[in-house]
Amino acid sequence: MSQFIIEGGRPLHGTVKPSGNKNEALPALMACLLTDQTVILRRIPKIGDVLTVCEILRGLGVEVEWENDDCLHLRASKLKSHQPDAELCAKVRASILLLGPLLSRLSKIELPLPGGDVIGARRIDTHWEGAEALGASLNLSKSITGSAKQLKGCDIFFDEPSVTATENLLLMAVRASGTTILHNAACEPHVVGLCNLLNSMGADISGIGSNRLTIHGVEELKGADHTIGADFMEVGSFMCLAAATKSQITIEDVNLDDYRFILKTLNRIGINTTFENNSFFVNGEDTSDIKRDIGGRVATIYSGPWPAYPTDLMSVSIVATTQSTGTIIFFEKMFEGRMFFTDKLMSMGANIVLCDPHRIVVSGPSPLYPANMSSPDVRAGMALLMASLIAKGRSEINSIYQIERGYYQIDEKLKQLGAAIKRVES
Ligand code: EPU
Repeated sequence: MSQFIIEGGRPLHGTVKPSGNKNEALPALMACLLTDQTVILRRIPKIGDVLTVCEILRGLGVEVEWENDDCLHLRASKLKSHQPDAELCAKVRASILLLGPLLSRLSKIELPLPGGDVIGARRIDTHWEGAEALGASLNLSKSITGSAKQLKGCDIFFDEPSVTATENLLLMAVRASGTTILHNAACEPHVVGLCNLLNSMGADISGIGSNRLTIHGVEELKGADHTIGADFMEVGSFMCLAAATKSQITIEDVNLDDYRFILKTLNRIGINTTFENNSFFVNGEDTSDIKRDIGGRVATIYSGPWPAYPTDLMSVSIVATTQSTGTIIFFEKMFEGRMFFTDKLMSMGANIVLCDPHRIVVSGPSPLYPANMSSPDVRAGMALLMASLIAKGRSEINSIYQIERGYYQIDEKLKQLGAAIKRVES
């Protein structure tokens, strides 16, 4: 197990360039299964989850080649199996995204249950209901077995705008006969990215960016060359880091439109950003007090499906708030296990009340003290790393594979900003 040793309490300074969005890269990798031609994916983050999915694809017979550290060539011309490796599937939640493309391409699947972060109940009902509506027949025992003689377009209203369920259904519907309409679909930037990739492969999807997607099925898809969007979770993390450590950080190569709600929310906890030349600049010295609602009531930050505040940014914004002045409630509506990591922040000195699995009250500012910790999941891991950079003195973080599952070369990026962080192999 590797660990990070951090000497915290130093202000940071400089520019970072975000890597590609993990949650766009993973379904994009699966899209290669829909064609026998080559799909080229650029700005791919070479992170743990991506490497695991590449291994799963290789096991199915896909040729996977790195052109350089952020560009992949994938060719699924000789698929040889409908049974992805169980051990690898248990490592990543994204393995559920094999359901759509394998049913579409091979008409059958035996899919081990997916793994991933333990942050709450992660239902697959929406995937299941959608696949059956398209004509698949599924069975659940130790794995999901399924077959689909012919996939046929359908009109379906999702019981919740699940990100991976929307992606799975897109991957299945693009080659189904007839028209599929997905109502109450997810519309995160990574869902938009997947739609754009599929259209460049010859699919016919409209309504992209909205919660109603119309897919006219086509017989065949072809190869494509696609660039993954910047990772807004990484961008948001650097914004929070700049504020919490009173640093000056510029984050390059971002699309302002993806950040409307994020900027509004960060502003509530006192983080001010400027945008110029496709870059954000955060001056942590300019952090203001936490805002209250009109009338003086303590405000609440809620997570929700896009365009609401992303659940994946809750952990890092909680850490940033421990350094702002005032009180605020965080209400994590989506995952019931995501707030538990805050006990580690409390033991570092943060003033947090865990009200129930979904809600906490944070009052700041509080000095944080160094600690030795393990990273429970990818986002909480990044949040603890941030807390260690705030705390004056030496902290250690174990289980850093959790952080590296989602953040590419995070230690190198932090070093460039002047952080004292060392990766130790043990
Ligand atoms: N949910 C609600 N209300 C909704 C929609 C969802 O409560 O309106 C709940 C669901 O019941 C579920 C949870 O929220 O418990 C997540 O739902 P979803 O099915 O959308 O999640 P997912 O598709 O399994 C993807 C990302 C997650 C990210 C979520 C939400 C991938 C591979 N994973 O998961 O990413 O948190 O969407 O945006 O795309 C991460 O990157 O750290 C991560 C966990």
